[in-house]
Amino acid sequence: MLPEIIVALDVPDADAARRLLDRLPAARWVKVGSVLFTAAGPALIADCRARGLKVFLDLKWHDIPNTVAGAVRSARDLQVSMATVHTLGGAEMMSAAAEAAEGELLLVGVTVLTSHDPESFARAVGRTLVGLQAEVARLAGEAVRAGLAGVVCSPHEVGTVAGVLGPGHVIVVPGIRRPGDAAGDQARAGSPEDAAKAGATHLVVGRPILQAPDPARVLDELVAAAAMG
Ligand code: C5P
Repeated sequence: MLPEIIVALDVPDADAARRLLDRLPAARWVKVGSVLFTAAGPALIADCRARGLKVFLDLKWHDIPNTVAGAVRSARDLQVSMATVHTLGGAEMMSAAAEAAEGELLLVGVTVLTSHDPESFARAVGRTLVGLQAEVARLAGEAVRAGLAGVVCSPHEVGTVAGVLGPGHVIVVPGIRRPGDAAGDQARAGSPEDAAKAGATHLVVGRPILQAPDPARVLDELVAAAAMG
């Protein structure tokens, strides 16, 4: 299956989100993160749903199992299609979340935040230095064993993660750049073609669309590029 392009609505408020969506009639999926959700809340999700969009609610839950399961149920009530939990929340938390999703919501695990380097990760988890690629693979395995639909990973980890997850799982990949796009703060960016070829099922794209003079044209180009993978 061709990967879906998810437009990251990395804008500060509901008005800016609506203005952007008015310019993207061909969008099928949007990602709402903690900045926009804190500002605009469920009303914006309802607006996206009314426009026929699928919503990826990226709030990266990391709490006790009962609380995360409750958040998943709330997201289901909002008709969200995909949401994130931290795999470091543990197997029990992920299982409770997966059970609450009841197959109606794709729950994907965040493995190692891309803001970590090996030193900062080792310090956060109180371990001696570990290879981050191996850590991503280990946590991806934990995620699917606990019943999650898949994981989020960088373009450089898609191949490894696809090998761990096997077919039928979701691999959501941010950090997508076409040749010539500014990398911004994405240290490990990759092209839509390569990510698709390696097994990505969903590509998350923010600034290359949001900062373009013609966002709709960039979205079209990304859809075409992903289809080449
Ligand atoms: O603007 P850009 O295309 O870099 O946006 C990528 C989106 O994916 C942003 O919303 C960012 O927060 C998110 N993301 C990421 N890297 C991760 C996880 C999420 O860039 N590892």
